[in-house]
Amino acid sequence: MALDTSGQYGSMVPALRCDDAGDRATLDPSQVSLARAYQDHFKIGVAVGRNVYGGRDDAASALVASQYNRLTPENALKWQSLQNQPGVFDFSQADDFIAFGEEHNMEIHGHTLVWHQQVPGWVFEPAEGQTMTRELLLQRLEDHMSALAAHLGGHVQYWDVVNEAFDDNGGLRGTPWRMIIGEDYIEQAFRLADRHFPDAKLVYNDFSMENPGKRDAVAAMVRDFQSKGVRIDAIGSQGHFRLDGPALGAVAASLDAFAATGVEVLVSEMDVDVLPPANQNQGADLSVNAELSERLNPFTECLPSAIVEQATARWAQLFDLFVQRSAAVHSVTLWGVSDAYSWLNNWPVNGRTNYALLFDRQLQPKRAWQSVIEAAGETQ
Ligand code: XIL
Repeated sequence: MALDTSGQYGSMVPALRCDDAGDRATLDPSQVSLARAYQDHFKIGVAVGRNVYGGRDDAASALVASQYNRLTPENALKWQSLQNQPGVFDFSQADDFIAFGEEHNMEIHGHTLVWHQQVPGWVFEPAEGQTMTRELLLQRLEDHMSALAAHLGGHVQYWDVVNEAFDDNGGLRGTPWRMIIGEDYIEQAFRLADRHFPDAKLVYNDFSMENPGKRDAVAAMVRDFQSKGVRIDAIGSQGHFRLDGPALGAVAASLDAFAATGVEVLVSEMDVDVLPPANQNQGADLSVNAELSERLNPFTECLPSAIVEQATARWAQLFDLFVQRSAAVHSVTLWGVSDAYSWLNNWPVNGRTNYALLFDRQLQPKRAWQSVIEAAGETQ
């Protein structure tokens, strides 16, 4: 991800020490729910893993059921979970995920059919006696969709058909899907998805959609599909935000550009990263470098109150904006239940302590949660 976040932390980190002021909401989440607060605006979703739908963390499951009305699986519907070996499907996680969502009357969001990550290598390699061709990969994609449709059919209301296909300048990434199928692979994927999932809404999903190059390329693709009669129903803008970027104006411009195409807009993977950017230290092993660990992972005990303030304000501003754009915004989905479960503890550097979500590591509501409730502008 290439958001420019230079500057801010260089001077801040040495001055800011954990002051243990705490980060607790005063409202009670057993009385107040995000989903209810936003019921007149849009749905509120959350991404979940086995801890929630597999019964490993009952408190987290109960919180999800009470706060959210839409569900995305963090990993259960990715290729590597479903078809890690050719033709051998494992729906065990998918079934648990869907059962949990349906038990709690949640809208189900499928993630994801075409992506260059978390897809096993065999997908792009010829089996013995085969040559790797466009037709072969399209056939594999169709077989995958057809098995998913047979098993999950009417249980998935939205599908991320293609995830993260553009680079920040609006060019097509050089993924194996593109290299093997060709420049029209996104269109082909949507055509196949339309055939196999006629009742699901079909979504194009990507991050850093505030970058004008990527934003305009995605809007142009949607218009191109519309002019050719290729069904696309929604754009998912992941919304992996940082404290200091992207600017609200850029987020607004992006929502507006997508709304202008006429499709639904989903904020599909929201979180707010509060840690120093890793930049050239992506993938670094902090356990063997104390200096780097101190610099990139400075808030292992608690988050200084000055940053709590900033995060709380940032969440409120973003939700204020989403409310203003609620005619176009179908849903806002948070990428994780609590700070403990956020993928940002392990990306782009492994083993950090991030504070990227609305509930803390003890599943208690943070001030940011309350600021989001208040941004809905209603009492319940
Ligand atoms: C992440 C999951 O949250 C992690 O559990 C997994 O290890 C890696 O993938 N963009 C996406 C998501 O579209 O699928 C990613 O999810 C986060 C970034």
